[in-house]
Amino acid sequence: HPVRPMTASTTHGSTQRFTAARVRQDFLDFFAQRGHAIVPSSPVFPKDDPTLLFTNAGMNQFKDVFLGTGTRPYKRAADTQKCIRVSGKHNDLEEVGVDTYHHTFFEMLGNWSFGDYFKEDAITWAWTLLTEVWGLPKDRLWVTVFGGDENDGLPADVDAERIWLQKAGVYPKRVLRFGRKANFWEMGETGPCGPCTEIHFDRGGPGTNPMDGADPKHGVNTDDPRFKERFIELWNNVFMEFNRLDDGRLAKLPAQSVDTGMGFERILSVLQGKRSNYDTDLFTPIFARIEELSGR
Ligand code: SER
Repeated sequence: HPVRPMTASTTHGSTQRFTAARVRQDFLDFFAQRGHAIVPSSPVFPKDDPTLLFTNAGMNQFKDVFLGTGTRPYKRAADTQKCIRVSGKHNDLEEVGVDTYHHTFFEMLGNWSFGDYFKEDAITWAWTLLTEVWGLPKDRLWVTVFGGDENDGLPADVDAERIWLQKAGVYPKRVLRFGRKANFWEMGETGPCGPCTEIHFDRGGPGTNPMDGADPKHGVNTDDPRFKERFIELWNNVFMEFNRLDDGRLAKLPAQSVDTGMGFERILSVLQGKRSNYDTDLFTPIFARIEELSGR
């Protein structure tokens, strides 16, 4: 595919078309049209779950369904979940205020399959929403898949890789493999878990090379803080297949399920062409009012 250097003119984004309210509704409508029940966010204090202090992901309210100990009157659901990540396994506290896209409290857009559709629909729908409904340029998107883990005795997720390449039509050099840390999602020390595939967006910058994402030094999932603002994770699709037991072993779940989560504030900043979540219309009216009241 054509590799063109990034300039200001290739930056995506519109604040008029992509208001927060519209983007949230687009997401829910997209999955409602594909047979998903739209459910309310659960409270940020989880009910009856001693493994969690606060709700850390949209899937928390469905933990029993994944484990096979509970049921719902639907097999597909979508919602926007209020999350707090200040404790436990998923704790973003150290990042907040340091970068422009971590929050202690945030909204997670999610869709779920409970033993219904699996990798192919999850992946192709995510791609359709991002590139067709919202029109994100494919040469700004990168995807990662699980590369396997010896300790857990798990192979690389070649199915997800194949679906990205053959069904979604991602450019081949843009599918990257990562290990357990980045691409195996677990709710907590114990509980439902599985290999995941993530979609990252390249915010670019003047003169940057669009293929930089593949470079482990400064690309997708880099550890270098100087480059963290450029490649931003937008959406995680987890293929729930296991339960992590108290002794660390993995047990097979009764069914194969899907658990996805997209950072609402992040997709908004990308769609609005802002470099920071705080410059989106989720935050700017609040700042404007504070300025009005404080005179500063
Ligand atoms: N549970 C996964 C996450 O939080 C996907 O929603 O990333």
